[in-house]
Amino acid sequence: MCGIVGYIGNKKAGPILINGLLRLEYRGYDSAGISTIEKDKISIMKDKGRVKNLYNLPGINDLEGTIGIAHTRWATHGKPSKENAHPHMDNSKTFSVVHNGIIENYHELREFLSSNGYKFYSDTDTEIIPNLVHYYYSKDENNDEFKFLRAFKNACSRLLGSFAIEILCKDYPNNMIVVRKDSPLVIGKSDGENYLSSDIPAILSFTRNFYLLNDYEYAVLSRDNVKFYDKDLNEINKKTETIEWNASSAEKDGYQDFMLKEIYEQPTAIRETIGSKLNEKLECSFEELDFTKDYLKGLNKIYFIACGTAMHAGLAGKNMMEKLCKIPTEVDIASEFRYRNPLVDDKTLCIFISQSGETADTIAALKLAKSNGAKTIVITNVIGSSITREADYSIYTHAGPEIAVASTKAYTSQVVLISLLCVYFADVLGMDNPNVTNLKEEILMLPKKLEETLKDTKKIKDFAKKVYQEQDIFFLGRGIDETTAREASLKLKEISYIHSESYAAGELKHGAIALIENGVTVVGIMTDPNLVDKMVSNLQEVITRGAKTLIITNQDIDEKRFDVVINVPKTSPFISPILAIVPLQLFAYYISKEKGLDVDKPRNLAKSVTVE
Ligand code: M6R
Repeated sequence: MCGIVGYIGNKKAGPILINGLLRLEYRGYDSAGISTIEKDKISIMKDKGRVKNLYNLPGINDLEGTIGIAHTRWATHGKPSKENAHPHMDNSKTFSVVHNGIIENYHELREFLSSNGYKFYSDTDTEIIPNLVHYYYSKDENNDEFKFLRAFKNACSRLLGSFAIEILCKDYPNNMIVVRKDSPLVIGKSDGENYLSSDIPAILSFTRNFYLLNDYEYAVLSRDNVKFYDKDLNEINKKTETIEWNASSAEKDGYQDFMLKEIYEQPTAIRETIGSKLNEKLECSFEELDFTKDYLKGLNKIYFIACGTAMHAGLAGKNMMEKLCKIPTEVDIASEFRYRNPLVDDKTLCIFISQSGETADTIAALKLAKSNGAKTIVITNVIGSSITREADYSIYTHAGPEIAVASTKAYTSQVVLISLLCVYFADVLGMDNPNVTNLKEEILMLPKKLEETLKDTKKIKDFAKKVYQEQDIFFLGRGIDETTAREASLKLKEISYIHSESYAAGELKHGAIALIENGVTVVGIMTDPNLVDKMVSNLQEVITRGAKTLIITNQDIDEKRFDVVINVPKTSPFISPILAIVPLQLFAYYISKEKGLDVDKPRNLAKSVTVE
């Protein structure tokens, strides 16, 4: 949710920290701050609002410290304000802390500290952390090199909830310490300097060598070294992992917004996803998996479990899996799955989908499925992300970093990977089905067809200009197109703030058609040849009631009946969402631009949702 950065080296920390925060702003953007050690004193500079406001703070350019921590916030406890912005200090001004996550027992700890004379100046859960560390620090009479680490560890072992925490201590000006539990944090190693960040892209321009921390592991960073300790402070060894993404993949590269860049990156992204999984001879392989025919045959159910757009990718996979592999398949929202006692056992395969690999609800659902005996696969974009450390099998989309809050290339590459998984399972099961061969051929042609889809965007841009001031927009589809309707509606809400609904078109007449009145915009998606006629009838019902219609199709239809028709290339109906969603991603994008909104950082949202 929030973004945290840290730096220790020989350069001034201030500019590096602010630069890192600017790149992490998609994780939260209601207040920001940095803390450095200046001549053995802790300095904190913070403010409400966007990270760039930090540049206006008096004295920010005079900071000399070469060690510092920083934070961009997405408020959970306490409204966005300067007081609630991180970093937070303890009463004695010995420690400063930034924190991503939620401390669930903070009321109890705040009472404990208050009864020991500590005062609080913010509404945050975070402010208890530096004070709790001070509590243990002041009680420790052993002034050795581990006193800071001991106090931090003692404090952290009392915290419940999720956290990634960075802490500075004025008495240890050459060290910063971090810990994580269920919240993302990576350590970037470089020559004579080390970096910390919530996400890899923010520090990719400095290093491609990263250490990954597991829950309750502590890292003590100095300029030349990083030492690691387990939860009992036994020293442990760690090796760096090299990340293949290049720095420019985390830049806008001349595009106005990351979202637009990521929409146009889709052909390349899915080429990477297909990668070595499917070759020209139509052989499909997943080296990550070791499933036998007997195992797959014995499954009572497959679940796709995820949140938001990733859940829509699961919906796109359900029909494919059932039709091609004949295994009953369900799709569940992660935050619902965990609280409804799902029927999951060792004959259930649970496939989790998460771009970031950090979504708290999805990780919690995975833990539950595992504890019920199910095998778990995660489909994710981020190597080494938290969920990959929990899942039995991790499969990567290789879509490259996705920075815009609204997910685009992550979605299409998830659907591609799911379709590959379906044909792979069908092969392992020995299914003799012409649809499988056809789907493989179509998957290989997808990158080119996506390029084609992106060639001419004028019609969609013009339509967006026409309707951007509307209050409500409806999306209709049947079968697989209903999934595209859902995803398109979510995209529009997210970045344009226009109220939008998506419906299974046949269901509209059972209630929601009451909302259709003269001039309302209805988007119809028609890619399934078996359902076109039915869709046309449903659209006629709204046209009769005065609706304007935008149609996305790859079928031959009587275009005169509709206001605007966008044609996308024909493909197997199983994977049509990958092409049909593209004009609708652009539709949401252009409406948002027309309204003058911040496309990449829509209000109230954050890129990865690490709270439940
Ligand atoms: O990182 P994840 O894929 O787990 O994120 C899940 C959702 O939060 C995410 O897809 C969200 O719905 C997007 N902002 C939609 O564009």
